[in-house]
Amino acid sequence: MSGGTARPADPGERRRVAILISGRGSNMAALIEAARDPTYPATIALVLSNRADAAGLATAEAAGIATVIVDHRAYRDRSAFEAEIGRALDAHGVEIVCLAGFMRIFTADFAERWRGRMLNVHPSLLPAFKGLRPHAQALAAGAELHGCTVHFVVPDLDSGPTIAQAGVPVLPGDDEASLGARVLEAEHRLYPEALAAVAAGRVRLAGSAVEQVPR
Ligand code: GAR
Repeated sequence: MSGGTARPADPGERRRVAILISGRGSNMAALIEAARDPTYPATIALVLSNRADAAGLATAEAAGIATVIVDHRAYRDRSAFEAEIGRALDAHGVEIVCLAGFMRIFTADFAERWRGRMLNVHPSLLPAFKGLRPHAQALAAGAELHGCTVHFVVPDLDSGPTIAQAGVPVLPGDDEASLGARVLEAEHRLYPEALAAVAAGRVRLAGSAVEQVPR
């Protein structure tokens, strides 16, 4: 892992991370795999899903990671749902939250509370192609370069200061599935690098800008 130190990080130096998922959890699996390296600056303390049938839950359990289900349908409104998520994060001593295919929108309050400490991956070169079906949007726009973005979460959907991006070429004959699979491979490389940069304190949110921290 680039950016890791040569010696194992002390437990106190490893930031405690929760990964929030709604489904497959392949980005979650990439983060879990990266954090198996003792020099990685983050440890995965919790995987939280809003859906009991999220396939990623079994992957997390198999890796020995605590899992929690907070079903949004059980709460009267978004604030009550978020309060329960907040309790789970606090109970596990979480310092950084990684959204990984988490398909719920947070209130501005929750996003502000985790400002600079909540990351998201989106499968496009933001600000292009926000929202649903970004690969179909890229193909329809005739884009030659597509990709993925890891960004700090702010109240607006798929917005927020960019931590890292990876470009992926659109190839002749690509359809939504083939392009999406190529972008997903890039996400699996990019997200662990971006989390490492934030967890190690090499990158931080300063106001509305991402700042590289001098060593
Ligand atoms: C990923 O491609 C992620 O970038 C996307 O959902 C997929 C989840 O896959 N997220 C968004 O579109 C957020 N706006 P995964 O569950 O296998 O990681």
